[in-house]
Amino acid sequence: MTHWKTLADLYQQTADRPIDALFQTPNRASDFAVQVGDMFFDYSKTNIDDATRDALLALARDAGVEDMREAMFTGAPINSTENRAVLHTALRNLDGGPVEVDGEDVMPEVLGTLAAMRTYAQKIRSGGYTDVINIGIGGSDLGPAMAVRALAPYHDGPRCHFVSNVDGADIGDTLRGLDAKTTLVIVASKTFTTIETMTNARTARAWMKDHGGDPVVQFAALSTSAEKTAEFGIDPDHVFGFADWVGGRYSVWGPIGLSLMIAIGPKAFDAFLRGGQAMDTHFRTADLHENMPVLLALVGIWHNQICGHSTRAVLPYDERLGMLPSYLQQLEMESNGKGVQRDGSDSPRHTGPVVWGAAGTNGQHAFYQLIHQGTRVIPCEFLLAAQGHEDELAHHHQLLVANCLAQSQALMQGRSLDEAREIAAAKGFLGDALERQARHRVFKGNRPSTTLLYPLLDPFTLGQIIALYEHRVFVEGIILDIVSFDQWGVELGKELATSLQPVVEGREDTSQQDASTAQLVDFIHRHRD
Ligand code: F6P
Repeated sequence: MTHWKTLADLYQQTADRPIDALFQTPNRASDFAVQVGDMFFDYSKTNIDDATRDALLALARDAGVEDMREAMFTGAPINSTENRAVLHTALRNLDGGPVEVDGEDVMPEVLGTLAAMRTYAQKIRSGGYTDVINIGIGGSDLGPAMAVRALAPYHDGPRCHFVSNVDGADIGDTLRGLDAKTTLVIVASKTFTTIETMTNARTARAWMKDHGGDPVVQFAALSTSAEKTAEFGIDPDHVFGFADWVGGRYSVWGPIGLSLMIAIGPKAFDAFLRGGQAMDTHFRTADLHENMPVLLALVGIWHNQICGHSTRAVLPYDERLGMLPSYLQQLEMESNGKGVQRDGSDSPRHTGPVVWGAAGTNGQHAFYQLIHQGTRVIPCEFLLAAQGHEDELAHHHQLLVANCLAQSQALMQGRSLDEAREIAAAKGFLGDALERQARHRVFKGNRPSTTLLYPLLDPFTLGQIIALYEHRVFVEGIILDIVSFDQWGVELGKELATSLQPVVEGREDTSQQDASTAQLVDFIHRHRD
């Protein structure tokens, strides 16, 4: 019997068992939790029991997670559709020794670039700059934007802004009010061909010229293509390169993190890298059964592939992690949103789930209604710091903590009809009205959640969190037998946008378009000046 079949059978046998019944087993809470350094992951409020966990671990082992993990860390070309190594871990390998790609140690280059970034970041931090604009999109935006916001208490450099959308509103709103003479523009693009980024970069350059700034001095670039940054006219001394074995959505650790380094300083950036490195060491060395990224992945596989819960909510009770859900959308959905297996055959099962969410407590007042009482089960992933940075507002943090813990408790325990009847009776309802009111107040409960705890959202911890999720995506991808490191699914839309541009501009007619698209173009043409 395959592990998938075993797991499907286990699901059939346990689907109706209340999660809280599992806590009758002594040590349920501690047996279904794992700690790495100061980081604690609790998955006891799920329906996973010993038998399920054993089957999930066997699934991971037989899928080759251990071998593939080593292959990744040692630079094998595991991105098989692009024949590339996958070595974002090398970017944070501060003292981990050589890492070879095609027989060549990449660490001297990585560390040399990091040193150059430090020097440049210090120059900008002390050079009279008031503002930094990072122009990039996808991985060249979400990583640094999310991290800069997450580490706001550590900012002691110029203000950082992020422009990503080709919608002129984005750059227009950002440039308004900035001083072109004291602003640094960083053009972040792995390929240096991305249409949104290049369009925004040209607009920023024109703005700088028109407003008394000097783009030769005040432009920097982060890219794998020195040729294209030179063509754009960026001084090679302001160009920070990286290799193609760094995937866009895994790139915040290297040059793409320059805006973060400028915001928090090289020392704090080092701590961020060390957090990532600490998680790498754990992931690479810990046995699967006590390996935090592996366990996170297995909980994900259980909920998505076995229980059929097709979405997952990421709920950081940490305002500064407000962008984490968007960041994880790219990391997870671009990585594991695939339809074919490594050998090109159709995947026999659903691949990555829809990932969504928002910071708590705000989400409670928006979409938690559906999470608690809707007809679909949505596994929830809570993140929470033991303490906040606002010492003088400690009571806010206590409330935040209480809310976070209350949510996972409510999801698990629910509220029975009898309890709801009591509440309705206490409100004075009688007879049919009581019954009706009570039914609206029932919470079925038995809804799974996990909680990730950490002491404080500092640079080291943020590094740990990001690396934790990267490895989780890796493990899920191996188990699903898909290539997690390409993104062919974004190509078709890009190609069609290029061919539609002349139609939208009115240089070509709509005769080659489908009737719906032609109708939409026609409406747009009739409604613009
Ligand atoms: O279109 C998807 C994508 O290729 C992402 O994978 C990437 O992070 C983003 O575009 C930006 O690409 P680049 O850094 O090359 O501009």
